[in-house]
Amino acid sequence: MNNQTRLPRAAITGLGVYLPSKILTNQELAKIVDTSDDWIVQRTGIRERRIAAPEETTLSMAIEASKQALASARLGADQLDLVICATLIPEHTFPSTACLTQDAIGATKAGAFDLEAACAGFVYALSVARAYIVSGMAKNILVIGSETMSRVIDWQDRSTCVLFGDGAGAAVIQAAQEGDTAMGEIESVVLMSDGAKACHLMIPAGGSKMPASEQTVRDRQHFIKMNGPEVFKGAVRGMADAFHQVLKSTNLQLEDVDLMVAHQANARIIEGVRSRLDLPTSKVYQNLQRYGNTSGASIPIALYDAVREDVLKEGMRVAVAGFGGGFAWGAAVIKWGKVTV
Ligand code: ACO
Repeated sequence: MNNQTRLPRAAITGLGVYLPSKILTNQELAKIVDTSDDWIVQRTGIRERRIAAPEETTLSMAIEASKQALASARLGADQLDLVICATLIPEHTFPSTACLTQDAIGATKAGAFDLEAACAGFVYALSVARAYIVSGMAKNILVIGSETMSRVIDWQDRSTCVLFGDGAGAAVIQAAQEGDTAMGEIESVVLMSDGAKACHLMIPAGGSKMPASEQTVRDRQHFIKMNGPEVFKGAVRGMADAFHQVLKSTNLQLEDVDLMVAHQANARIIEGVRSRLDLPTSKVYQNLQRYGNTSGASIPIALYDAVREDVLKEGMRVAVAGFGGGFAWGAAVIKWGKVTV
């Protein structure tokens, strides 16, 4: 008899998404700023993105994605121990979007907090959820990535406004039952950061350093500022390195990975990561052509679409990586279980 106590495993058991119905195509964007469909497709791979209607917000999208994820996992909201919302554009500075979601979905027994790691937010939240479950502090956790990027984009800046879109994705993470082979496992997560590069991707105003004033509004300091080439290099190096590190941490080889889901920022960034890893293109999932960069929502939306399209199936091993402002980045390797969307 084996007397060793096994640590609980953390598994993704449900997924949900919410995408605004309004589609903004590259052709329509070309009427707003000096750009073209050709330029955007060649430099980014993006063809269209979703834009929130005035009544759609980070919270409203988080609620819908959460309800869908709970239904997908067949779990009642009152069973949740924790709600984590990864977002860089929360409903308010405070209270947290996670608390407002907790109330709206009826997660009456859950703690709730927001997590800010920009476009890497979902991977960071996944690592927190996994740690809570493995340590036995929680059994059922809802992780949300929800972003209303259209509210912080400078629609006069063609170098950034073509890149982003709105949307939300949510995942239910549960402690796997011993012997339940249908449940997958978040096998490992690694996180990294380099605050020395903070200046390359930020919203300068609205915090304690530069509170909102007439001047900050006039100077357009409440919008995303980005040094494109620096972000590009950081994202390729960072995500490729994170993939290597997470595989090393689990003693896995690249051949053991069936699918790579990198943060959906730019097709050229994903291609850069793929070629550094020397992965076949057939193992790379991409849906950014439809949604643009939805920041912390991009990975759960991509996982959802990959399952819906039957690209990601039970028994496969998927590696995900996120990269964003901070710089903050990380990767996770997940044995995929039975997830119905
Ligand atoms: N349409 C037409 N021309 C444009 C546009 C546009 N939308 N945007 C920039 N240009 C012009 C520039 O003005 C420049 O013109 P110039 O040579 O006359 O000065 C020219 O295109 C080349 O600009 P670069 O910045 O060198 O173009 P590059 O090939 O680097 O592509 C891009 C720009 C797409 C922003 C790229 O740097 C990039 O993808 N960076 C990563 C950004 C990213 O994904 N950020 C998302 C947030 S972070 C994250 O999620 C990882």
